[in-house]
Amino acid sequence: MPVWFMRQAGRSLPEYRQLRSGGAPMMEVCFDSDSVVEITLQPVRRHGVDAAILFSDITVPLRAAGVDVDIVNEVGPVVQRPVRCRSDVDAMTPPNPLSLTAISDAVHSLTGELGDVPLIGFAGAPFTLATYLIEGGASRHFERTKAMMLGDPDAWSALMWWLAEVTITFLRVQVDAGVDAIQVFDSWSGALSLNDYRRYALPYTTHVFASLSDAGVPMTHFGVGTTQLLSAMSDALGNAAEPVLGVDWRTSMVDAASRARPGTVLQGNLDPVALLAGLPVAEQAVRAVISEGRRAVQAGAAGHIFNLGHGVLPATDPGILTEVVNLVHSL
Ligand code: CP3
Repeated sequence: MPVWFMRQAGRSLPEYRQLRSGGAPMMEVCFDSDSVVEITLQPVRRHGVDAAILFSDITVPLRAAGVDVDIVNEVGPVVQRPVRCRSDVDAMTPPNPLSLTAISDAVHSLTGELGDVPLIGFAGAPFTLATYLIEGGASRHFERTKAMMLGDPDAWSALMWWLAEVTITFLRVQVDAGVDAIQVFDSWSGALSLNDYRRYALPYTTHVFASLSDAGVPMTHFGVGTTQLLSAMSDALGNAAEPVLGVDWRTSMVDAASRARPGTVLQGNLDPVALLAGLPVAEQAVRAVISEGRRAVQAGAAGHIFNLGHGVLPATDPGILTEVVNLVHSL
């Protein structure tokens, strides 16, 4: 069974910490193709995972579109002038694919260096990107986001169409440069009810996947806390050549199989925190996910890709991650 980890590159790895220590800020690193190549390869070398994920961030194409966004250490994305009203939206300019040249250069080099190991490209979904733009950074309740969504639907819709174009441009650059698969992260969509998701997020994400379907690469749709949305998120994949639905740890793989469209592969869903409880606990949890995955396939899922239910936490012992890869392969 194939295995890779969301956020497999990054702070859980000493070699990453060493490369970053005292050096350039995160956003600059994302626009330095040599660094992107090296950091993308680190977890592949160390863990022997079955796929690499491009080292980048969902906010990179916002920067390429001229948004004043930075990635602050231990904080995450921070937007200097958040988007709050229709005139803010109307002032947005489209992303320039040329300003993403460092990313396509990195993808070109990586496809050569990786040999048979596939490279996954990614982007944020419009809703999750909107939360950063409107809140100005991370948020607990998404107050301003939902206030615009519900209170100013015209501004919301204009912003979401602009973000869909940003996402499509970022993914198109990666696909054209040779990534083998793409994943769209809608990390915070779980904050929405199914009705609100269908009305305020789904149309834009559906447009993103439809615009990329001609690439013919496997496409994954992932969110956190999205049990209530899984069937709609599966619909968003449309006529993707090989649709994959990311499942977080709150939903069982069997439950996810019953919600996904026929022909959909499931990806997930080990609780990342289970890796902090020691190797015996981690191994037991891995076995449980794999047997759930087998039941999901019996229940109609088109396959199972082992992953975590969300990203690797910085405190994770990388030795345990390598053991997880070995165990998944042995099973
Ligand atoms: O192997 C990989 O997956 C790494 C590539 C990657 C990063 N960000 C690097 C990163 C990916 C796939 C992302 C996606 C991303 N970025 C998402 C969606 C995935 C998810 O976790 O839900 C989101 C919501 C973001 C926005 C963002 N950027 C957050 C919430 C943070 C963390 C803030 C913190 O410090 O805890 C970032 C910063 C970030 N992106 C880091 C890395 C390695 C840490 C910065 C650093 O190392 O200096």
